[in-house]
Amino acid sequence: MTFRKIALATAALALMPSVQASEVFEQAKITAGEMLYKVECRRCHAADSSDPSYGPPLENVIGRGAGAFPDYDYSEALATSGIVWTPAALRAWMEDNTGFLPGTKMRHVGIEDRTVQDFILTYLASLSAAEKQ
Ligand code: HEC
Repeated sequence: MTFRKIALATAALALMPSVQASEVFEQAKITAGEMLYKVECRRCHAADSSDPSYGPPLENVIGRGAGAFPDYDYSEALATSGIVWTPAALRAWMEDNTGFLPGTKMRHVGIEDRTVQDFILTYLASLSAAEKQ
């Protein structure tokens, strides 16, 4: 009975949780950010705090004070900078970290494209959110 099948399929669809377009877009930004992070940041920064590499891990970095990751040997300049890693500070850092904070030991990166910054920020925020759950 075709009509019955259609009616059942429609009822089943109505019961499925709706996936918002905005959620798909957000997930796509996180995925793009992760890929860009792997290219631009990962060789020095682990995303996972339990797996430190050359630079301090960036898990939970948003909202954190500069130089706050325990046991990491920060430069004097960064340790005493008083910077708080807000999204705006992270943008300025990605754009020109050595100009933003002369004396930092992080090699110069120059990511000026706001969209690229945006993707990386969304990815970093997702790392922080995951930790809080
Ligand atoms: C060549 C290695 C290298 C690359 C590539 C690199 N970093 Fe860093 N980063 C470092 C080092 C080393 C430090 C510590 C700097 C200091 O103590 O002055 C640092 C520090 C930081 C800090 C400060 C963290 C804190 O705990 O205060 C942030 C934020 C950061 N990097 C973000 C990034 C992002 C985002 C990228 C990619 C766009 C990136 N870094 C690419 C080596 C790197």
